[in-house]
Amino acid sequence: MNVVDPIAAEATKLFESVYGGRPEGLWAAPGRVNVIGEHTDYNEGFVLPMAIDRYTVVAAAKRTDGRLRVVSSAGDQRVIEVALDDLTPGFPQGWTEYPAGVAWALRGAGILQEGFTGADLAFVSTVPVGAGLSSSAALECSTGLALAGLAGAEAQLSTADLARLSQYAENNYANVPCGPLDQLASAFGEDGRVLFIDTRSFEIAPHPFDLAAAGLTLMVFDTKVSHDHGESGYPARRASCEKAAAVLGVRALRDLTAADLERAERELDEVTARRVRHVVTEDERVEQFVSLLTEGPLEGERLRAAGDLMTASHASLRDDFEVSCEELDVVVEAALAAGAHGARMTGGGFGGSAIALVDVGDAERVAESVLAALPQAEIFRAIPARGAHRVA
Ligand code: GLA
Repeated sequence: MNVVDPIAAEATKLFESVYGGRPEGLWAAPGRVNVIGEHTDYNEGFVLPMAIDRYTVVAAAKRTDGRLRVVSSAGDQRVIEVALDDLTPGFPQGWTEYPAGVAWALRGAGILQEGFTGADLAFVSTVPVGAGLSSSAALECSTGLALAGLAGAEAQLSTADLARLSQYAENNYANVPCGPLDQLASAFGEDGRVLFIDTRSFEIAPHPFDLAAAGLTLMVFDTKVSHDHGESGYPARRASCEKAAAVLGVRALRDLTAADLERAERELDEVTARRVRHVVTEDERVEQFVSLLTEGPLEGERLRAAGDLMTASHASLRDDFEVSCEELDVVVEAALAAGAHGARMTGGGFGGSAIALVDVGDAERVAESVLAALPQAEIFRAIPARGAHRVA
């Protein structure tokens, strides 16, 4: 059975019990892990995410009174209702900001027009919230597809626009200054593939990532330390990258190479120079990782090199960019000590999840080692999965 089916069945049930009547359709969007390329997206650099087999599904139907109603199986299952004309950034607060923000962004972009007079939405999700696995992007992308679908405007909403408008809603409605990584991964994800994305051009090159065939598995360790990128050091990191680009006279840090790092050290304060070094070296690591994938299956020397790049990425995020935390560091060390080929935090940091590339035969041992180091960790394996789509 498809992983989405049981979630869709639950979303249908929730819709029927809350709103009465049948939904007109069901739409799904996944969470993601980023294999490598962290804090590069808002510097117009490279990322290598994959959508994962954890989904948000929304059951939806049109309304005729100009109102948007939303409910989620998470939390207290309260129905939140707002008039489309009252949608305004920051209102209503809480998780509703994401679907409301997408409705607002789609209206602003002219994808939802006068003829669209409201909707009932019921969400069920298996993407853990606050775990750095992009539960908000899953919420946004499923909402975007559902609203366009209800309005008969699917053809007007390309996959790139779905990602762009979802990011726009998160930046301008929910006031979280994220880059495009999460929404691109959730929108464009493919079964069995990682996505090499140039976040400047939005060019996307999917690469086969058949870990099972190579005897490998990608483990995810949710530290249960929850993060909030509106509040954490995230906006400060973004601001300091933008300041550094301005001082160094480039459009974005993506335009620098290792040869520029000496000049960066001369012209910037010590901390900002380290932020720049992370971004420049991380972009290089993504390109090196992709070269390894292109050369052939991840085994032998290539596997060792790929694992080392992941672990080097973690060290750079911890020491130069300073977005890791003790729990993430502990989990990464424990995974490596138990034989992982490589391990790193994934996502924005300050909590959330770490990932490790592990031989299938070592997975139990790695899980035990991680749990011994951080008993609260929640552990699962992720496979590259299909991006946002209509379910029924
Ligand atoms: C969060 C943001 C993304 C990206 C990552 C770090 O997940 O939402 O845009 O910046 O952090 O790579």
